[in-house]
Amino acid sequence: MNDRAGWLPRIVGHRGAAGLAPENTLEGLAAAARLGARAVEFDAKLSADGVCVLIHDDMLDRTTDGRGPVAAAPWRAIRKLDAGGWFGPDWRASRVPTLAQALDLARAHDLQCDIEIKPSAGREVETALAVVAEVTRCWPARRRKPLMTSFSRLALAAARGAAPRLPRGLNVWEHPDDWAAAARDLDCGWVICADRFMTRAWAGAIRKAGFALGVFTVNDPRRAATLWRWGVGAVVTDRPDLLSTGR
Ligand code: G3P
Ligand code: MG
Repeated sequence: MNDRAGWLPRIVGHRGAAGLAPENTLEGLAAAARLGARAVEFDAKLSADGVCVLIHDDMLDRTTDGRGPVAAAPWRAIRKLDAGGWFGPDWRASRVPTLAQALDLARAHDLQCDIEIKPSAGREVETALAVVAEVTRCWPARRRKPLMTSFSRLALAAARGAAPRLPRGLNVWEHPDDWAAAARDLDCGWVICADRFMTRAWAGAIRKAGFALGVFTVNDPRRAATLWRWGVGAVVTDRPDLLSTGR
């Protein structure tokens, strides 16, 4: 895979290692590295005051002891929340990290990053610009560039405009009719698809169109082996430990 298309290994830890440690935390990213993953996917969103933080949902409720929209909470409040207690009592010290902290940890563990730009509604462009600004500020130029991914085409377009040399991937859920045109227009090297809708034929079509193919979320090693046979380049998994043989 050339630099423009970006690089991901065969196994990518989903939200860190979401089956084994609280998602989108530094502990989760470190767990993925410990389990042998060479790359992690995580979700980046903006706090009320524009700080890029790692969290999947629009609301704080599921993965922290906070309440309400992430977009309405300032960083000084988010930073105090418990982001691990929901996962298990041993994880209560886990916090919502900033993107800068996550990039520092990834660098220290030599992890490649699939940064999913996960904007709150209406903040697509602002979030993408903040993410690429943090990557440009924090990520050493000599290292392989992180992959910018998103379901939001607005976010990918903004990322492309601000930092065209950062590689991009289009996340898709079902089979959007215009997936190929969209990925091409956004100059994406990767198309990253939901396993639930992945078939051999669709994998073949994506590969034939010249895109690298990722699939999420795959926790069964037999399914991962099938996908790799179909030409899938990166399998995003909550359980890098289960998939790591033969990577
Ligand atoms: O790798 C893509 C995957 O993370 C997209 O789904 O909902 O887990 O962010 P989600
Ligand atoms: Mg994600």
